[in-house]
Amino acid sequence: MRISPMLAFAADNSKHNVAATKALIVAACALMMTPPALSQVNPDKYRQPAMPANLPDPLVFADGTRVAAQADWPKRRKELLDLFTDQMYGRMPERPAQMRFNVYNLDRHALGGKATREQISILFLGKEDGPRMDLLVYVPNQVKRPPVILGLNFWGNQTINPDQGIRVSDRWIESSGGSSIDLSCVKNNRATEACRGIDQGRWPVEKILDAGYALATAYRGDIDPDRNDGYDESIRSAWPELAQGGNNFSTIAAWAWAMSRALDYLEQDHLVDGRHVVAFGWSRLGKAAIWAGATDPRFVAVISNESGAGGAKVFHDVHGETVELLNTRFPYWFCKNFKQYNGRDAELPFDQNEVLALIAPRPIYIASAILDENADPQGEFLGALAVTPVYRFLGTTGLPATEWPSVDQPILGRVSYHVRRGVHSVTAFDWEEYLRFCEAYVKPGADLR
Ligand code: GCU
Repeated sequence: MRISPMLAFAADNSKHNVAATKALIVAACALMMTPPALSQVNPDKYRQPAMPANLPDPLVFADGTRVAAQADWPKRRKELLDLFTDQMYGRMPERPAQMRFNVYNLDRHALGGKATREQISILFLGKEDGPRMDLLVYVPNQVKRPPVILGLNFWGNQTINPDQGIRVSDRWIESSGGSSIDLSCVKNNRATEACRGIDQGRWPVEKILDAGYALATAYRGDIDPDRNDGYDESIRSAWPELAQGGNNFSTIAAWAWAMSRALDYLEQDHLVDGRHVVAFGWSRLGKAAIWAGATDPRFVAVISNESGAGGAKVFHDVHGETVELLNTRFPYWFCKNFKQYNGRDAELPFDQNEVLALIAPRPIYIASAILDENADPQGEFLGALAVTPVYRFLGTTGLPATEWPSVDQPILGRVSYHVRRGVHSVTAFDWEEYLRFCEAYVKPGADLR
């Protein structure tokens, strides 16, 4: 069934004032029997995606020659990886030789006996008082060595589930999550007991476990506090040499790097299948999940939930957040070299379809929400569409569609995509589809088409 744009509005239960006002206009006009033109409500929202004519082609080398054979792909892949490292995300450190894992909690009877809960401090430089990330892992007890979905969380491990056994974060936490979440439990920028489970709606732990997957997560603030003045509290400051130059170690790269360090742990954890770990992330953490998948081929798949600009959206589709807006509001997310592209979205010499190409031919799910204009749903769809030729070139399938689907009509494929009703968030609908995708493309023995 095709959901009409009007219905998509009505279905939006957003707390956003702007969206609510628009919905009211629609409702009022409906009562007066004079529906407004969609362009009156929002000129952009329901435009059909149009592939930008000058979108850079991942299958063409920098010198203009085409990638002729599959055997040449690793060379082009390396060229792209170096380009994006230099111009956008910045350099990353190697895995530190001194890194240690301190398992401080192992409970085989967590969540009413359903799961084993592990909590591990990843001591990046081997020192308790050095940079550290606390990883929380739930493993379903009914499955032997299950695949893992790994994703960073926004407000601390204790927010994903009311489970009393989760260590409450002692790190700096923002005190307002805008319209995303009520953070009144945060006192003086620290979490309190009242913060347990406050984001559980976005983390359906039991559903994920019941589907036969382990879930691993860590707080973004353990890695980088995500503030303009956050450098000294970020793990980035442990590598001052990487702060030099235009290709400096950025926050998005730091989050991606930390996901790889979590994967280092999972690879040697006998409770899970460390060779089947999916990188998941929402929004800015979706941008990080994509870069983690691009830089670390050990991730078997990527799930990008509304990653938007600097994620799955192609910048050449100049709608929603632009390079300049990203670089102005969050100047530390990408490296200094990226600033030179402010205002040049439509002429960028590279674009995000080429970052997605670094993940090919591994499965990827790109998801949008219709009211998430900042992320540019059409631009995210174009990312999925424009990476598909690379999947085909590598001998597999990409997105099995050419048209932007209706709201709430997922396209399941090796490149999967949906645009659901509602606002910027992670919903039960999203997870339902991610688990279907994992079943089809990630589970060992799945039909890897
Ligand atoms: C802001 C930002 C986005 C980002 C989002 C989020 O809205 O503009 O780029 O994805 O925050 O992380 O929630």
